[in-house]
Amino acid sequence: MTLKKQSIVVAGGGSTFTPGIVMMLLENLDKFPIRSLKFYDNDKERQKQIADATEVIIKERAPEIEFKATTDPEEAFTDVDFVMAHIRVGKYAMREKDEKIPMKYGVIGQETCGPGGIAYGMRSIGGVVEIIDYMEKYSPDAWMLNYSNPAAIVAEATRRLRPDSKIINICDMPVGIELRMAEVLGLESRKEMDVRYYGLNHFGWWTDIRDKEGNDLMPKLIDWVKEHGYITPKELEGASEEEPSWEYTFGKAKEVQWLDPDTLPNTYLKYYFYPQDEAEHSDINYTRANEVMDNREKHVFSECNRISNIKTAEDAKLVADDHASYIVDLARAIAYNTKERMLLIVPNHGVIENFDAEGMVEVPCIVGSQGPEPMTQGSIPRFQKGLMEQQVAVEKLVVDAWITGSYQKLWQALTLSRIVPNARVAKQILDDLIEANEDFWPVLK
Ligand code: NAD
Ligand code: G6P
Ligand code: MN
Repeated sequence: MTLKKQSIVVAGGGSTFTPGIVMMLLENLDKFPIRSLKFYDNDKERQKQIADATEVIIKERAPEIEFKATTDPEEAFTDVDFVMAHIRVGKYAMREKDEKIPMKYGVIGQETCGPGGIAYGMRSIGGVVEIIDYMEKYSPDAWMLNYSNPAAIVAEATRRLRPDSKIINICDMPVGIELRMAEVLGLESRKEMDVRYYGLNHFGWWTDIRDKEGNDLMPKLIDWVKEHGYITPKELEGASEEEPSWEYTFGKAKEVQWLDPDTLPNTYLKYYFYPQDEAEHSDINYTRANEVMDNREKHVFSECNRISNIKTAEDAKLVADDHASYIVDLARAIAYNTKERMLLIVPNHGVIENFDAEGMVEVPCIVGSQGPEPMTQGSIPRFQKGLMEQQVAVEKLVVDAWITGSYQKLWQALTLSRIVPNARVAKQILDDLIEANEDFWPVLK
């Protein structure tokens, strides 16, 4: 059977993750053939550096693909099948502020969790909705596969503001953790595991993991994680390739797992269970944004600039990773009805029986050409239910605040976050965030 060739636009063409997605697309042309690839960004200069290198790479590896980078929405979104979106409204400069402002008050600042995530959410909603609208105007049949963070808040906002749009919000953290699980188990691929998982984005638990014969892999994994977190056996011997902050996170997961010994947790729960530890462990003068700017951003841009200068990508040090493979698997599932089982962020609608029907949850889904069909997860225990209800209320209040321009709702959201100690501190952080975000947030009254 010949597969229909696809047309893709990457929104946030200047993202540090764009080259990985390009490499992954080029490695999978037999399974996911492409006729056209476009980049769209609102920062022409940033995008150009990635685009110039991509042009060299495509010329060498798949010259039949038509490639174009543009800042014009009509050109970008016309005649596309998929929008792969990963924008960062405010870029790293604002991420740095999200991380550092709460720390002035002794509160952890993080990209997607707590006050930092709330601030980022207030910036992202408008940018993501704008991209949906471009897609629907110029390619009404297209699907948007969205990585843009904070995915939990973005998903709630798109559910409310664009309920009928073909957007699927996704996260690579479970995939990254499952890769580590596969290593612990000595499996060749994470796809040898079938998982049951539920939660909100960056706020979930694995409840069951089996191999293809149905054997229960949880006991062995739990034994490992309660001792070592998600540090792999190889890393334990000193072979870690992770940056220090991620190494710490994967180790810290053991303390997160102890809270509910029968399940395996998402790493991001550490911010909610141990916020003071996280605050103490971080440095206000050098947060994760600084680490990313010094490492991933420098590496990606210097490598792209090198490739476009020497005009060959024969020895390119840009690699396809699991972040990229996940979004390509999702696009394939929709394009060719593969019915792959994937964790996605979808409206609850009874998937978790005893949880808010209108909450956006992250659960396994079977994905085909009609989109995701979520798999029911039954009732969840009181511990998780209590935590999730509090957190989903935070996310909904942020979206309320964005839609209605309400200072009060945003103050409530910050106060309700487990990461913020009290309402007074919440207000101090909020007032600083409002000042820092004046170019990005709606005006709050
Ligand atoms: P980045 O800053 O390198 O790239 C983001 C790009 O988006 C920039 O080139 C910027 O100019 C562009 N941009 C910003 N606002 C825009 C707008 N309104 N319209 C068009 N383009 C716009 O960031 P990055 O570190 O590569 O991450 C990109 C995004 O992917 C972030 O939102 C990040 O949180 C997200 N991400 C999500 C996951 C996940 O699990 N969901 C995983 C990795 C990254
Ligand atoms: C994981 C999460 C993403 C997040 C990323 C942050 O992959 O799932 O949602 O954006 O980590 O990574 P960074 O390297 O930018 O801190
Ligand atoms: Mn994520």
